Amino acid sequence: MSKLESAKVLVVGGSSGIGLATAKAFAEQGAHVVIASRSAAKLETAVAQIAGKVTHVVLDTTDEAAVEAFFATSGQFDHVVISAAQTPGGPARKLPLQDAYTAMNSKFWGAYRVARLVDIAPGGSLTFVSGFLSVRPSGGSVLQGAINAALEALARGLALELAPVRVNTVSPGLIATPLWDKLDAQARQTMYDGAAARLPARRVGQAEDVANAVVYLATTPFATGSTVLVDGGGAIA
Ligand SMILES: NC(=O)c1ccc[n+]([C@@H]2O[C@H](COP(=O)([O-])OP(=O)(O)OC[C@H]3O[C@@H](n4cnc5c(N)ncnc54)[C@H](OP(=O)(O)O)[C@@H]3O)[C@@H](O)[C@H]2O)c1
Repeated sequence: MSKLESAKVLVVGGSSGIGLATAKAFAEQGAHVVIASRSAAKLETAVAQIAGKVTHVVLDTTDEAAVEAFFATSGQFDHVVISAAQTPGGPARKLPLQDAYTAMNSKFWGAYRVARLVDIAPGGSLTFVSGFLSVRPSGGSVLQGAINAALEALARGLALELAPVRVNTVSPGLIATPLWDKLDAQARQTMYDGAAARLPARRVGQAEDVANAVVYLATTPFATGSTVLVDGGGAIA
């Protein structure tokens, strides 16, 4: 029997991309999965794509009261994954300060709000999704790297504070997800082709690559305080 059979799993950001692939991976192994994000329409579309036991809840991690209200009644989870984020980016000298605060509020403080309230069973796990810019900065996305590094440090500290709940981070490189739908199709393909040529893995990542690492961390009882890179070798290229 799968280690995840009947486990209760929450995927915040589970309506798209990495979160959706992660929800599918847990459901395939028999877990009861709850996916959460802001858009009811996106959640309903996602639920229709997940085979297995899945429910959804509308939740905005930037809304402190909504996060408190949800966890006051949600009960205990075995595994929790936070991939929710919407982060305006750009060079520090050009990104308006308000956009920078918005990015940090979404990705870092959103994860923090969930982490400080969610009830996770002893031996269960909490996994954040950061990004390889934490260790391989880009001059065009300075804040993104800093947010990712902050999340990874938060996970290491929480792994001590919340023990025996295990807390880890998966750090993706470039992954083909709807995150990049903001680019037109041609610009997106050019970016993917350039990355694939540059990366040691000679391909762009898929959401399933990252989901696989999340499931590994959730199901490995000796893994805590870890950051697992799934970046096609981007950090060393
Ligand atoms: N794709 C990449 O190349 C890449 C690389 C490195 C790191 N990452 C990181 O990986 C994570 C997931 O990215 P992705 O590529 O899967 O992006 P995505 O396809 O855009 O998915 C983001 C998810 O987060 C949800 N979300 C956004 N803001 C939210 C909020 N305030 N509260 C609740 N849910 C929220 C979205 O749903 P709603 O719109 O319904 O809220 C969606 O389900 C992000 O932290 C991203 O920075 C991605």
